[in-house]
Amino acid sequence: SLSGKIGPSILNSDLSNLASECQRMLDSGADYLHLDVMDGHFVPNLTFGHPIVKCLRPKMPNAMFEMHMMVEPAERWIEDMAASGANMYTFHYEATQDVPGCVRKIKEAGMKAGISIKPGTKVEVLDPFIDLVDTVLIMTVEPGFGGQKFMADMMPKIEYLREHFSDLDIGVDGGVSLDTIQMCANAGANMIVSGSALMKSDNPREVMQTLRNTVED
Ligand code: DX5
Ligand code: ZN
Repeated sequence: SLSGKIGPSILNSDLSNLASECQRMLDSGADYLHLDVMDGHFVPNLTFGHPIVKCLRPKMPNAMFEMHMMVEPAERWIEDMAASGANMYTFHYEATQDVPGCVRKIKEAGMKAGISIKPGTKVEVLDPFIDLVDTVLIMTVEPGFGGQKFMADMMPKIEYLREHFSDLDIGVDGGVSLDTIQMCANAGANMIVSGSALMKSDNPREVMQTLRNTVED
């Protein structure tokens, strides 16, 4: 089966110490870092952008940065993110008129391409694009904030993708914790984003290992 990868979301970390929070997660065994970029337009919140990535990159040269781009238009920040050192650009299906064009621009910029859908979007809309992207990210909360309640009714979307695309990297994002990881694993997710559950834990290494083991069992 696909390997389980754990990507802490640092949205609810102590942003005044972002570099050390990222390093703490990497030292605790994170496979990648999930950075939530919000523009106050696509979602009702505002976070950070490529200048932050530019400053983080030299401090952690080997870290894998997945940028979760809750921005519209989805294409707007591709070149800036690539130039700043981002590795993966995960955009929203709902934020572009041209999914193939967006994916092409991301890859031409040298990044991996992920596509994400909000809870209200049917998973079947992704069918024509699965072969173009590196990963699909299924939101299990309405995007915009960390610490929200996991939406278990999103699991059929993951089951659908795993059934039709057996070797696709499928991510899950929102309210994922030790209490909800089993559902995600059973549905077939293998890329696990977790924010609050890791940030508030006094043993993030143990939590990440449990998340990974649950996915890989
Ligand atoms: C929400 C973000 C998620 C969120 C995850 O819009 O995309 O990555 O920060 O945090 P938790 O795990 O606390 O829901
Ligand atoms: Zn996210």
